[in-house]
Amino acid sequence: MFPKWFDKWNNENPTNIYGPAILIGALGTAVTVAAFLVVVGQPFKTDSLQTGPRGTGMSVPEFRNEVRKADPTIAGYLTRDQITEADIAAVSEAALQNVPPALGDIAPEQYAELVVAMRSWTGIPDLMEDPDNYQTQVAYTMVGMTQSINEDWIGHVQSNAQVGVTCYTCHRGEAVPSEIWFKMGPVNEAAGGWAAVQNRVTVQSQYTSLPSDALETFLLDYGRISVHNLEAHVAEYPHEEGVTTWQDTERTFSLMNYVSNSLGVNCVFCHNTRAFYDPEQVTPQWSTEMLGISMVQEINNDWLVPLEGLLPPERLGPVFADAPKAACKTCHKGYQQPLQGLNVIAEWPELELTDS
Ligand code: HEC
Ligand code: HEC
Ligand code: HEC
Repeated sequence: MFPKWFDKWNNENPTNIYGPAILIGALGTAVTVAAFLVVVGQPFKTDSLQTGPRGTGMSVPEFRNEVRKADPTIAGYLTRDQITEADIAAVSEAALQNVPPALGDIAPEQYAELVVAMRSWTGIPDLMEDPDNYQTQVAYTMVGMTQSINEDWIGHVQSNAQVGVTCYTCHRGEAVPSEIWFKMGPVNEAAGGWAAVQNRVTVQSQYTSLPSDALETFLLDYGRISVHNLEAHVAEYPHEEGVTTWQDTERTFSLMNYVSNSLGVNCVFCHNTRAFYDPEQVTPQWSTEMLGISMVQEINNDWLVPLEGLLPPERLGPVFADAPKAACKTCHKGYQQPLQGLNVIAEWPELELTDS
C-alpha cells in the first residue's frame, strides 16, 4: 500500500519504534492524570476532625467526598410546612378518634397534621385508622417513647444544639426501622461455654470474631463495660466477683466497635487511646455516649420489650421470639449525628412535652 521507494528505504533503515512509543505514551498518561487532578481535584483528599491535644494522634480523618455526601434519607423527611390542607382534609374521622393517650387533649387540626406526618415517617398509609390494628396500638407506645426521649434525654439528643428525634429518626419511611437487633444466644451449637458466643460473623459482632452478645449484655442487661485497672492481677481469680477476664474485655471491644461504626467515627472521637480507662482524658462526646447508653437501656427495657405481646410473630426475633430492640445505629445510621444534625424537634413540640 506504500510506494515502492518507501518500502525499500524502510527495509534498509530498520528502527525500533516501540521505545519512543512507550515514552510518549507514559508522558501522555502523566500529563492527562496531572490535568485531571488540577481540574477535578484529588479524589482521595481527607479532612481531619481534631478531637484532642496536638501530638496525641486524636483526630478523625474522613475522605472529603464522603463527608460532603448528604445522608440520602434526609430528602425524604416530611416537614410541617410541606403538609397541605388537602393532606389534612384526607385524614378520616375514624383516625382522628384514635388519639394516643400521651398526646392528652391535643387540638384536632394539630393532631391531623401529626397523623399525616407519622404516616409519612413510618411509611404506613393507614396508621391510626383502626383502633384494633396492632400498628395503631404500637404507635400509642411510640408517641410516648418519642416524647420521653426528647424530654428526659435532652442531654443526649440536644447535646450540641436543638436536634431531637421524631419517628423518622428511626423509621426513615419504613414500618420496621433499619438497624434493629434481637438476642442471639450461642451462635455455635457444637461448642459450649465461651466459644459459643464468638467466632462467627454476625451483625451484632460487626462481622468480627468478637462476641456477639455485647448489645444484649450492655444495652439490655446492665452489664459493666469498664474492664481496665492499673493494679497487678496476680492475686485475682477469674471466677471471683468483680474480676474482669479476657472475655469481658473482648465484649467491651465488641461494643466499642459497634459504637464507632454506628457513628462513622474512630476510637479517638471519644478516647485518648493511651488511656482508655481514664475519664479525665476523654472528649465531651464520651459523656454524650454515657448518657446514650442509659437512654438505650431505657428505650429497650421500658418501651420496646413490652411490645412483645403486641407484635405479630413475624416481627419477633429468630432465636428467642423476642421483641425488636434499638441501639445507637437505629438512630445514627452511621452518621455522627442522626440526619446529620437536622433540627427535627423545633416544629413538633407535641413530640416533646407531655401534659402530665
Ligand atoms: C428509637 C427509635 C424509634 C422511634 C423514635 C420511633 N420508633 Fe416506631 N418502632 C421502633 C422499633 C424498634 C419498632 C419495632 C419494629 C417492628 O415492629 O418490627 C417500631 C415499630 C413501630 C410500629 C409497628 C410497625 C410494624 O409494622 O410492626 C409503628 C406503627 C411505629 N413504630 C410507629 C412509630 C411512630 C408513629 C413514631 C413516632 C411518634 C415512632 N414509631 C418512633 C423504633 C422507633
Ligand atoms: C462515642 C464515644 C466512644 C467511641 C467512639 C469509643 N468509645 Fe470506648 N468508651 C466510651 C465510653 C463512654 C466508655 C465508658 C463506658 C462505661 O464505663 O460505662 C468507653 C469504654 C471503653 C473501654 C473500657 C475502659 C475501661 O475503663 O475499662 C475500652 C477498652 C474502650 N472504650 C475502647 C474503645 C475502642 C477500642 C474504641 C474504637 C473501636 C472505642 N472505645 C470507641 C466511649 C466511646
Ligand atoms: C433515639 C435516637 C438516638 C439513639 C438511640 C442514640 N443517639 Fe446519639 N444522638 C442522637 C441525636 C439526635 C444526637 C444529636 C445531638 C446534637 O447534635 O445536639 C446524638 C448525638 C450523639 C453524640 C454527639 C455527637 C457530636 O457530634 O457531638 C454521640 C457521641 C452519640 N450521639 C453517641 C451515641 C451512642 C454511643 C449511642 C448508643 C449507645 C447513641 N448515641 C444512641 C440520637 C440518638
